[in-house]
Amino acid sequence: MRTLFVAGNWKMNPTTLEAAVKLAEEVKAGVGQAVNVRVAICPPSLYLYRMDEVLAGSPIGLGAQNMNAKPEGAFTGELSGPMLVDAGCTHVILGHSERRHGHGETDDLVNGKLIAALESRLLPIVCVGETRLERESDMTEDVVGRQLEHSLAGLTPEQMGGVVLAYEPVWAIGTGLTASPTQAQAVHAFIRRHLAAKFGEATASRVVVQYGGSVKPDNAAELLACPDIDGALVGGASLKAADFLGIFHAGQSVVAQGKA
Ligand code: 13P
Repeated sequence: MRTLFVAGNWKMNPTTLEAAVKLAEEVKAGVGQAVNVRVAICPPSLYLYRMDEVLAGSPIGLGAQNMNAKPEGAFTGELSGPMLVDAGCTHVILGHSERRHGHGETDDLVNGKLIAALESRLLPIVCVGETRLERESDMTEDVVGRQLEHSLAGLTPEQMGGVVLAYEPVWAIGTGLTASPTQAQAVHAFIRRHLAAKFGEATASRVVVQYGGSVKPDNAAELLACPDIDGALVGGASLKAADFLGIFHAGQSVVAQGKA
């Protein structure tokens, strides 16, 4: 079965290495050696080498928030998969809506990065999700289906089994508006059906699909209890150790109540 997976996307925060180290140390202490809920933090890339040192001896994964599809070369300002691996990364977030909408990332670009990440043996977290206008126009499944179709193009079922997806409705990111458990579960079930049609039932049942969008300690448990929600990709609440650990503990309580 699928292990719940809670990841913190720190985005462009905090602004000093000292604050990043403090936050990572607090998260490390709070998670301890627990592995019944998997945890990763995704700090700004500038901090990765140091974060890897801080996380030594901890089961917490270390992720980047983006990467280039090329392994090296004349790509000013970019970072490659091999570099992220060298810095100690285990994970990489790809196709976050802030990159799709703010930096013009297309599904094809995300697909190239995804294949490169798998070649580098990074565990990708591929984000999909609709805007408010798309939801209001009843286009959520069209949009998410298209993102999945193109972002995951060319993957074998075996490769797909090693990819994490994150459903992040754009209207719920950083807004305090969380998708209700019913709304989120419906899209997660749609994602699972899409995966089953494309990659087969066995693969679809293995893929971890996180929910992201204003996840907080007080709404995490009911989201994580939904059958097709396998974790959370947390933005704002991952910047306070107590809040992030509160979400981690909500995951543990859901597991204790019988969710695998
Ligand atoms: P918030 O949790 O701040 O809404 O951000 C979600 C997100 O974008 C995680 O990738």
